[in-house]
Amino acid sequence: MRSGGRVKHCTYLWLVALGILLEIGACRGSPVAERESSLSLIHGKARKQQSNQAYTTLLYGDEFLLGVRVLGKSIKVTGTDKDMVVLVSKGVSSEAMELLEADGWIVEHIDLLENPNSKKKRPSRFWGVYTKLKIFNMTNYEKVVYLDADTIVTRSIEDLFLCKRFCANLKHSERLNSGVMVVEPSRDLFEDMLAKVTTLKSYTGGDQGFLNSYFEDFANARLFDPLMSPDERKEYNPEFERLSTLYNADVGLYMLANKWMVDDESELRVVHYTLGPLKPWDWWCHWLLKPVDLWQNVRVTLVESLPGTRAGETAHSRLVVRVLFLIPLIVLAFCNRRLLCQIHQDVCGLLCTGSFCGYARQLWYKYTAGSALPIYSKITGSPSNTSVNQYTGGTGGISGSSRLPTYLGSLSVVVCFICALGSMVIAVLLVPRQVMPWTGMILAYEWTFFLFIVLFGKYLDVLYGLGRSSAVAVSSVPSSPDASGYNSGKGHSRSAVLWDAQTVFYGLGMAFFAMSVPAVPFILGVSALFARLGLMITMGLVLSAFMTYAAEHLAIKWYLRGRDEWNQSRPQSGYCGIC
Ligand SMILES: *[C@@H]1O[C@H](CO)[C@@H](O)[C@H](O)[C@H]1NC(C)=O
Repeated sequence: MRSGGRVKHCTYLWLVALGILLEIGACRGSPVAERESSLSLIHGKARKQQSNQAYTTLLYGDEFLLGVRVLGKSIKVTGTDKDMVVLVSKGVSSEAMELLEADGWIVEHIDLLENPNSKKKRPSRFWGVYTKLKIFNMTNYEKVVYLDADTIVTRSIEDLFLCKRFCANLKHSERLNSGVMVVEPSRDLFEDMLAKVTTLKSYTGGDQGFLNSYFEDFANARLFDPLMSPDERKEYNPEFERLSTLYNADVGLYMLANKWMVDDESELRVVHYTLGPLKPWDWWCHWLLKPVDLWQNVRVTLVESLPGTRAGETAHSRLVVRVLFLIPLIVLAFCNRRLLCQIHQDVCGLLCTGSFCGYARQLWYKYTAGSALPIYSKITGSPSNTSVNQYTGGTGGISGSSRLPTYLGSLSVVVCFICALGSMVIAVLLVPRQVMPWTGMILAYEWTFFLFIVLFGKYLDVLYGLGRSSAVAVSSVPSSPDASGYNSGKGHSRSAVLWDAQTVFYGLGMAFFAMSVPAVPFILGVSALFARLGLMITMGLVLSAFMTYAAEHLAIKWYLRGRDEWNQSRPQSGYCGIC
């Protein structure tokens, strides 16, 4: 580094560029903050009841907080003046309640209603779900529209308040679904329900099964008609009415049919993300389920009702994302600092010198002369590569004076797949679940590649070492002339033994196929679940084929290179050995 000042100056430029990148990453998809004037709420004044009709939902824990925020926003967008009440149980943090109040919810505390079936062998996830019956006890309201936290409203549903006594939607097998309900709260009704909770059967072990037993005859209910004339409605007093699919459109059914099972999709009012553990706030669901678009579109419009909560983020999640984003970059940069130093000097030279053309020409000569940078200068045609090509024809075969370990090829394939799978699993577990879909995707890929490079790189490094020791044992292989391409004299000069043109090519190939697995269905515009899965499996097979090929070749290549270079007296500096 001859021109120290210039390089220092450039280091600063790099940092600024990285900072800008991070900011872009953090701001992606979120609109300019429009802070709401909800300061009075932050300072402890709880919202008061303002109407005698309300939208309501339940929150058992912070995991569903984002769901409730998005639901609330989607209700507000329809321009309602009704109250929005969230019933929270003990598991909800005070920060979450503060945030919901700032968003415009009225927060009411409730105790969990015990599940009478929980002593029998019922699914544990229904613990506490009888609590939902408490909406029948909200007697300070005349009528309540209940929505699950995993629903969103896509059009105004004010007409639901016309519903007389109890409305819900029928789903599969003539069962009512308790995800969207219109309830006329009544102390008598509630107490009657409580009295029967222990005696009536519940096919789900939870509230939905109980309600199906309690409203035994619900399957015969007439369809709720919001267009019925007021006079007619006055005369009309059914025990319950049945809501059309428009008010509780099931994403599970959408995924099977690849369309909403309604006449006019623009008439949809409530979308219900029913698919078990696939909740719309988990980043990967956006890449599986097309209807999650609707949910994410509302999510990005969430305002910053409390500092740092724009678009459903939190200060904590933003920090985690940044740290996760930076760790692999820093580690890889550290392990390849000499290479980066070189690139840094070259790029800075390009940016900072006045005579751009002259510098470019200089660089060109430097690289074509092949003296500066191992990664660029070690290319094909060297003796070691030639010998690789000879060997790869017959794996494990004998050529010349040496023999490859018998299981080298197949073992390497297995190791490669284990590394890839392990990296992917760890990466997906590391990424916070509720980040934006793109953030999650980028982080998951970054960590998968990072872990894979470290793990499989280490394996190749071990093979390189084995190759060397085999050569030491045989003592019959001449030194490879291409190794003189490195800067000689400095013992530490090879900090990244595994970077060369061929390895980079295989690495990029694997990265390309890995990224095309989810990308191809999107590029082709395939949204049907089974077609999409089929395409992804096909691309996965292509990826596996390429990985098999690459793993075998790389293993043999690095084993042989280790053997060929054994007498170059260099410290054993593995890929990340210096870290
Ligand atoms: C029902 O609501 C009343 C207040 O309206 C309350 O006093 C009572 O405890 C509630 N019942 C249950 C079981 O939560």
